[in-house]
Amino acid sequence: MAAAAAAAASRISSGAAVLLIICRLWLGLVAILLLSFHPQLVHGIKRWPRGSSTRFYDFKVQMKRVTKLCNTKNIVTINGMFPGPVVYAQEDDRVIVKVSNLTPYNATIHWHGVRQRLTCWSDGPSYVTQCPIQSGQSFSYEFTLIQQKGTLFWHAHFSWLRATVYGAMVVYPKPAVPYPFPYPYQEHILILGEYWVRDIARLERAVLASGGGPPTADAFTINGHPGPNYNCSSNDVYKIDVVPGKTYLLRLINAGMNTENFFAIASHKLTIVEADAEYTKPYTTDQVMLGPGQTLNVLVTANQPIARYSMSLGPYMSAQNVPFQNITSIAYFHYLGATPNSLSLPASLPTFNDNFAVKTVMDGLRGLDTSSQVPKEIDRNLFVTIGVNVQKCSRKNPKQNCQGVNGGVMAASMNNISFMRPTTISLLEAYYKGIDGYFTDNFPESPLKFYDFVFGAPNNAPNDTNSMNGTRVFVVEYGTRIQLILQDTGTVSTENHPIHLHGYSFYVVGYGSGNYNPDTAKLNIVDPPYMNTIGVPVGGWAAIRFIADNPGVWFMHCHLDIHLSWGLSVVFIVKNGEGPLETLPHPPADYPRC
Ligand code: C2O
Repeated sequence: MAAAAAAAASRISSGAAVLLIICRLWLGLVAILLLSFHPQLVHGIKRWPRGSSTRFYDFKVQMKRVTKLCNTKNIVTINGMFPGPVVYAQEDDRVIVKVSNLTPYNATIHWHGVRQRLTCWSDGPSYVTQCPIQSGQSFSYEFTLIQQKGTLFWHAHFSWLRATVYGAMVVYPKPAVPYPFPYPYQEHILILGEYWVRDIARLERAVLASGGGPPTADAFTINGHPGPNYNCSSNDVYKIDVVPGKTYLLRLINAGMNTENFFAIASHKLTIVEADAEYTKPYTTDQVMLGPGQTLNVLVTANQPIARYSMSLGPYMSAQNVPFQNITSIAYFHYLGATPNSLSLPASLPTFNDNFAVKTVMDGLRGLDTSSQVPKEIDRNLFVTIGVNVQKCSRKNPKQNCQGVNGGVMAASMNNISFMRPTTISLLEAYYKGIDGYFTDNFPESPLKFYDFVFGAPNNAPNDTNSMNGTRVFVVEYGTRIQLILQDTGTVSTENHPIHLHGYSFYVVGYGSGNYNPDTAKLNIVDPPYMNTIGVPVGGWAAIRFIADNPGVWFMHCHLDIHLSWGLSVVFIVKNGEGPLETLPHPPADYPRC
C-alpha cells in the first residue's frame, strides 16, 4: 500500500505530494490518539487495560461502635465509616483498593456494576471469584473502569456483612466530556439501606438455622440515618440544604438487604437521567423504585415554595404474606431560608404493593443511545425460572429448625436448582486450575419441567415445592450472544426479584406479566436500558441480552440477600477467546487462600 501511494505520489505534482504527506501524518497522529485512549477497542494490538490514571484507596475492615435507635452495638465498617468511604474515579481510570481485614470476620468487597474487564479475580463474591480475606489478611483489588461512568457502589460479598459494609462509587466522565443533561448546581449521594439492631452475624445464623424467613429490618436508612419516624431517632436525620431555583443531581443507590424501595421527595418531580451507571433518556416521575443493587441518577429542581420537604424511603413488597418494615425513613430537602426546625412536608409514596407504579417507572427507562450496541441476533436463548421454594423438613428438630411455610425449610432457586457455593475454594480458582469436583457444567438451558409457572404451583399438596441442590454452572464460548428470559414463579409466592449479573451490563429488551410467550412478547431493541440489575416483574418475566465477551466466572443472583442465602443464583463461566485481550490472566500474587 505504501508502494502504491508512493507511485501515485510520483505521478502528481509536488504540492499535492506535500499535502498527501501531511494527510498521512495527520492520520498517523489520529491513530496514535485512538490507540492511547481506547486500547481495548483496537483489534490485533495486545495491550493491557491499564487506565488513564490510577486511584489508590486503603480500606481497613474494622469494627466500630455505633448508636442508632437507642441501641449501641459494634458493626463492621470500612475505615470506621458508615456508610463507607466514597470511591471517586474517572472513566477509564485504574482503581486499586487495598483491603485489610482487621475484624474477626471473613470479608470480601464486590464492586457492584464494575464490568471487571479481564479482572474477574477482583470481582469479590466469596467462594465464586475468591476465598474471603481472613482476619489479619489483606488483598488488593485492581480493575479498570473501561468505558464506565456514573453511579455505582461497592459492598461486602460475604455472608450478610453488606448490611453495614457498603459505600458509593462515583465515576466522572473524562475531562471536558459533558453530561448529556443540563449541568446540576450540586450533586449529592443518597445511599439507601436497612438497619438491624441485632448483631448481623448472629441474626444470619439464627435465621438460616430456623428454616424460616428473616425478621424485618428495624429501620430503613438514608446515608446511614433512619430519620425521625422511628423511635428514638428524631435527630438521626440526613439533610440536604438547597438553594431555591437550583437543580440538583441525586445519586440514589439501594444498598439494602431484603427489601425493594420506593423513593420520593414531597412536592418535587424527579427526572431520571441515568440507571445503573448508564445514561437514559430523561424521564420525569413523582417517585422511583429501586431494588437492592440498583442505582439511579435523578435531577431535582428546587422550584417549590421555601420550606423543608421530606425525602422518603418506603417499602415495595410484592410478595404475599412476607412481613416487612412499613415505617418510612425520611431525610430533609431543606430550602435555604426555611425555618431550621420546621416540620417537613410529607412525601406521598405509593402503597407497598403498587405494582403499577413500578411498571410505570420501568416503562420510562430508555437507553439514551443503545440502539447500535444491543445484539440483534442471538446465539443462545436461555430460559431461567426464578423463585422461592419450600423443602420438606428433614431436620432433627422441626419445631426449631423447620419454621418455613407449612413446616418446611425455605429455599430459592433458578430453574429449580438451589445453588450451593463451595466453602474451601473459589469456583474461579477451581475452574482456572482445572481442579475437579467443585461444580458441574450442567445447568439446564431451560427448566426441566414446563408448567404454568406463575399460577400453577401454589404451595399446598399435592404440588411439589422442593428444589434440587447443586453447584451447576453454565459454560459459554467467548463471544456468545446470549438472550436470557427470567421467569418469576409462584411456587410459594410471586415476587419482584432484583436479578444482578456480575461482569457485565445487559440490555433489558423486554418484560411483561404472566408467563413469557415468545409469540406475543414485545421486545425493544431500539432503545433498551443497559443495566446490571433488573427487577423482574412480580408474576412476570424479563428478557435481557448481552455478549459474553469477558472471560471468567460470573455470578448471577437475586440481590435480596435472603434469597441469595437460599440459593437463588447461578454461575456463568465464559471461556477465553482466541484473540488478544480475550484471555483471563493469572491470579494476583496476594489472592486469598481459604
Ligand atoms: Cu451487588 Cu453479587 O452483588
